[in-house]
Amino acid sequence: MPTHVQESSKPRAAAVRDNRAKFLERAMSRHHYSGDALIEVLHTAQELYGYLTPELLKTIARKLKLPPSRVLGVATFYHFFSLEPKGEHSYIVCLGTACYVKGALGLLEVLERRCAMAGSTSPDGKVSVNSARCIGACGLAPAMIRDGEILGRMTPEKLNEDLDRIGVE
Ligand code: FES
Repeated sequence: MPTHVQESSKPRAAAVRDNRAKFLERAMSRHHYSGDALIEVLHTAQELYGYLTPELLKTIARKLKLPPSRVLGVATFYHFFSLEPKGEHSYIVCLGTACYVKGALGLLEVLERRCAMAGSTSPDGKVSVNSARCIGACGLAPAMIRDGEILGRMTPEKLNEDLDRIGVE
């Protein structure tokens, strides 16, 4: 499960926490940990993590008091859930309010121009692009996640450099 957090500009002394687990917990709590909210909770988990790992499914089953087989069944039944990263690399752009006002759309535009539209994978299978409502790193807005690593205070220039580095044409 991704836990590493990196600020892509100057490193800060204080560690920045990856709040995604907290956000997922909050989503489940909002639904009073009801099993009826399974689809909604899976959506939130996928938005936060890009895809549904076995650990995430296990956690959700435990918290919602559902049999793991039922959670896995729902996650595999609906095509909009993904159990594995689709591209060799995965980028998730946060479009939550804090990131949006600080230029997240410009980041998404770079990815859509160079790689793939949000929700899809580039034709060469190299990069999957997704968006999320908030990834719990608002203090680093605009923030995004690349391969499980949070990148903070991103700019289109830094993103272009990152894409160059992984060999995107
Ligand atoms: S709005 Fe982007 S991390 Fe919270």
